[in-house]
Amino acid sequence: MSAVAAQINRYALKSDAECQQIIIEAKAKLGERLIILGHHYQRDEVYQHADFTGDSLKLSRHAAASNAEYIVFCGVHFMAEVADILSRPDQISILPDLAAGCSMADMANKVNVQHAWEEIRSVFDPDQLVTPVTYINSAADLKAFCGRHGGIICTSSNARHVLEWGFERREKILFFPDQHLGRNTAYKMGVALDEMVVWDFDKPMGGLQPQQLQKARMILWKGFCSVHQIFKPEHIDRFKQQFPETLVISHPECSFEVCQKSDFIGSTEYIVKTISAAEAGTRWLVGTELNLVNRLNELFPDKQVHFMAPTVCMCSTMFRTDPQHLAWVLDNLAAGKVVNRISVPQEDARFALMALNRMLELPV
Ligand code: 13P
Ligand code: SF4
Repeated sequence: MSAVAAQINRYALKSDAECQQIIIEAKAKLGERLIILGHHYQRDEVYQHADFTGDSLKLSRHAAASNAEYIVFCGVHFMAEVADILSRPDQISILPDLAAGCSMADMANKVNVQHAWEEIRSVFDPDQLVTPVTYINSAADLKAFCGRHGGIICTSSNARHVLEWGFERREKILFFPDQHLGRNTAYKMGVALDEMVVWDFDKPMGGLQPQQLQKARMILWKGFCSVHQIFKPEHIDRFKQQFPETLVISHPECSFEVCQKSDFIGSTEYIVKTISAAEAGTRWLVGTELNLVNRLNELFPDKQVHFMAPTVCMCSTMFRTDPQHLAWVLDNLAAGKVVNRISVPQEDARFALMALNRMLELPV
């Protein structure tokens, strides 16, 4: 067993209460040298230690604005990469558990996106006609791909403005990895469903005919979030039969059918703000990750907040960050040792920053 694994194992044996104490002491010792960013899907035992909480856009703005020496990201891998890209070279981005990835982000990679781009080139020149847009839930080298090809990044809170930016420059958009965010956003902007095609990265030419590509305005990557695909329109129908007055709010990673049946659609931060501002006594059916829905339920006892699916569906990778891993990284930092640093190779970081800056300059 490696020395690092042995060290983590020692923390794994500590109780949550012991870890909470270590975290509090390390935070006090590090003071302003440290900020902890916590995504809304984090479990409460971790979330409570965050200096800033939010959705991907809000947290990336905090990472960009921070002066702290250490940015500990309680979230998933692509978020810590964004923090590294947006921060100064002397700042250090840390992910408490390196196995905290995002299964949706893994559905697109540099090889299959580059391959798609070249296959599209057999029909028309993508560098003339297509703006590549990657959801922030993607690896840094895909963000760099967008930077190199005149493209941009989006999050769930600014996708509409980003697509407008893309369409102002070129007539088509290649949107990866989440087909649902792409479809839901483009449809709301007035792009018809028959102007959208799904690029199946397991098939030659994405499984599409040249005429389909020529007609398409949106080329949607066949990726999805395994958590949000659990929500189904029938869950909404069944719930509303019992409680017809229910307001439905969903994350745009949910399917088109679920979003069509929702009263409100938006990022995790938007969901928090909307329910927080709602009148007492209102009833909400929420299509997003369970830790967030449970927290909303506790935060707003004057409202009825329900989880959309009958089965439990947590984001297992967000859940990987536990008090034990957080205590381990902070204890090491307090002792002057950096563990689990996330460092994006320079060339990728340069082009990814270009695409991120295009997004951050938009008025959202
Ligand atoms: P938000 O940017 O809305 O927080 O979404 C991140 C995410 O991964 C949702 O699954
Ligand atoms: Fe990725 Fe889905 Fe988890 Fe969000 S909820 S981090 S998209 S796997």
